[in-house]
Amino acid sequence: MIVGESGCADAFSKYEALASALPASRQGLGSAPYRKHDGFWYPEHLMAPTLAMRDTFTARPTDVILATMPKSGTTWLKAIVYSVVHRGRHAPARERHPLLATSPHELVPFLHSLYENHRAAPPGPLLEGMPPPRLFAVHAPFTALPASVPGSGCRVVYLCRDPKDAFVSLRHYLGEIKPEGSEMTPFAEAFDLFCGGVSPFGPVWDHMAEYWKESVARPGEVMFLRYEHLKEDAVGTVRRLAEFLGCPFTDEEVASGVPEAVVALCSLDRMRCVRANRDGVHGTGRWSFKNMAFFRKGEVGDWKAHMTPEMAQRLDGIMEEKLRGSGLSLAGN
Ligand code: A3P
Repeated sequence: MIVGESGCADAFSKYEALASALPASRQGLGSAPYRKHDGFWYPEHLMAPTLAMRDTFTARPTDVILATMPKSGTTWLKAIVYSVVHRGRHAPARERHPLLATSPHELVPFLHSLYENHRAAPPGPLLEGMPPPRLFAVHAPFTALPASVPGSGCRVVYLCRDPKDAFVSLRHYLGEIKPEGSEMTPFAEAFDLFCGGVSPFGPVWDHMAEYWKESVARPGEVMFLRYEHLKEDAVGTVRRLAEFLGCPFTDEEVASGVPEAVVALCSLDRMRCVRANRDGVHGTGRWSFKNMAFFRKGEVGDWKAHMTPEMAQRLDGIMEEKLRGSGLSLAGN
């Protein structure tokens, strides 16, 4: 049940007022600044929706929540989880699969976007009406998730990526989607901000460490994945993911290559050619851009083309230091 459904517009203005009173960064990594809440930085337009989500969304045991820092492979994870979970109804090898007609972002919406797009009318009925399993994505840190998430038994899948590649990816993305006429923060300054913890939903190390800690404490409910491992062994990771989600591939499915079909369907090359991903639009009228901005190179180590070895060393050093003692290490990317 969604609490506080009545008077949602009023409830939402309460969050907007709260958000506008929070400390703001002087600049962002792209063209817009961030707001700081409970130790994390949020893109300004997502602060109020995230707070509304936190306070009013009620998780169900059958829900699956995909959590990422921006540019960590969210779109890929959405496609994979959708095709794994719905493979009974939609065989991944079929030519008429929903992923070949619809953006992964529509099939697996961001929870904060549902709140952002339903300021006037509450998203409650929409959320209530969604059949199980409901699949959502979030960028919010673990501690900003609705209180019902940890207790509900729902599954959370976290995907993390080498922050050097995520930073480079983010810069490209922000350049693509920035409103016309706005100025991007210069690359070196944006890198300094990132290293200082100022990034969308950052500091990146705290974001990762929170989900890591939770995955160690509750491995049956929180799964921690790495983009690099998904690239390295997509089929193996997809099989582990299916098991975690409670729908393991049967021997028959394995023998007939269903996990491989999921990987092929969700591959960057295949997704990039889908018309909805190539020409479709993401977002609302207020701020919209081509879905194509979500598909670029999808490489591990692309940072080498954009960062000096000194910059890489600096960021690696910061990550190592900040994650020390957490049990999580990103070394070896
Ligand atoms: P690059 O900019 O490095 O190419 P997100 O989905 O979290 O916004 O992340 C976008 C990044 O994931 C981009 O990285 C994009 O190219 C990559 N990506 C998108 N779809 C992918 C897929 N099917 N396989 C691998 N990488 C993918």
